[in-house]
Amino acid sequence: MQNNKKGKVKYMNVAILGFGVVGSGVAEVISKNADAILENSGIELKLRRILDIRDFENNEFSALMTKNFDDICNDDEIDIVVETMGGINPAFDFVSSCLKKGKHVVTSNKELVAKKGFELLTLARENNVNFLFEASVGGGIPIIRPISRCLAGNRISEIAGILNGTTNFILDKMIVDKMSFEDALKLAQENGFAERDPSADVDGHDACRKICILASLAFGHHVYPDGVYTEGISKITLKDVEDAGKLGYVIKLIARTKMLESGKIMIMVSPALVKKESILAGVNGVFNACLVRGDATGDILMYGKGAGKLATASAVVGDVIDCAANNEKRKFFGWDAPKENFIEEHENTETALFLRFDKTGIEEELRGVLPVAELTESDGETLVITGLGIEKELMKAIGTVSVKPDSVIRVTDY
Ligand code: HSE
Repeated sequence: MQNNKKGKVKYMNVAILGFGVVGSGVAEVISKNADAILENSGIELKLRRILDIRDFENNEFSALMTKNFDDICNDDEIDIVVETMGGINPAFDFVSSCLKKGKHVVTSNKELVAKKGFELLTLARENNVNFLFEASVGGGIPIIRPISRCLAGNRISEIAGILNGTTNFILDKMIVDKMSFEDALKLAQENGFAERDPSADVDGHDACRKICILASLAFGHHVYPDGVYTEGISKITLKDVEDAGKLGYVIKLIARTKMLESGKIMIMVSPALVKKESILAGVNGVFNACLVRGDATGDILMYGKGAGKLATASAVVGDVIDCAANNEKRKFFGWDAPKENFIEEHENTETALFLRFDKTGIEEELRGVLPVAELTESDGETLVITGLGIEKELMKAIGTVSVKPDSVIRVTDY
């Protein structure tokens, strides 16, 4: 065994499941940055196998390719398996089998972690190996490790963020370039940010999976996506964006969770108005930002590239190095089983609302039934920001107004 400045060099064999955008990025980072990885960590990573059902000719990793999962699962020389296939099937079975074989697993698969995280963390604990997923939230931005380690001395009360690069890119194009929703989505797909099925981005499911992972980590119990109110951006129009702008706001897809006094949590994903001077308003393009509110630290903002081949691969390789450094032991990491009645219905939580009525002359009526924080009338329309109220009570009051609103969007105070 060789020595370097950090002591004895550790040699670790790595396999990758899925040679798509992220998987090929991981192979590239491990191979191109081998010297830096060794220098930074004292670990030499050797890529041993790559699983993919597709044929890849003339690529520098051709000799490592296999279509047979058993070549990886039954290879006792493989220490760490990277799962970058996406989806639940067959990723869940493959990851479970690798953990049972005593291999550490690192994944970027947010759907897998959000839906099966508790089961896989339990399996990892039973087999004394690590199951790490830094890349599952925020691409290249360190978020999981800071929350679970650096902020472990805090009680976290709230997390809010822009956790989907595709929708942020689309909204940004609509705001800045006045581009239509459809054209902006097409551009995001061409840039390779969007999910294979872009409805996962546009309808908010990707952001929902990510906030579920963060809520599980911060509040200690698995939070499943199907229990979380999720609204995407497909109903947001250029008119909404322009009107929000007139009042000094921008519209962002905000994923948020909060510990309530009742001991339940609020968690939801929806478009929301944020003040133009808010730190989240300045998060543009494919960038993500995650705001964490700790009782000791106050607000912390983590910001960076939330999607993309090498940014995401960087987070995966960081976890691989962590597994290698902790090869003999399992890290204390994860969360407990789901808890019944843990999530408060979103209608029972407090919010402010933005309303647009395509009519003027209704100020008095509106002020009679709603708490009004801001109201302007122009160009034949009335724009309102309500005061804070329980969502279902605000909606009930809006239902009594003689004119139906043409737009209702939540307003946040981040
Ligand atoms: N489609 C995702 C996004 C990729 O746009 O954020 C990163 O998870």
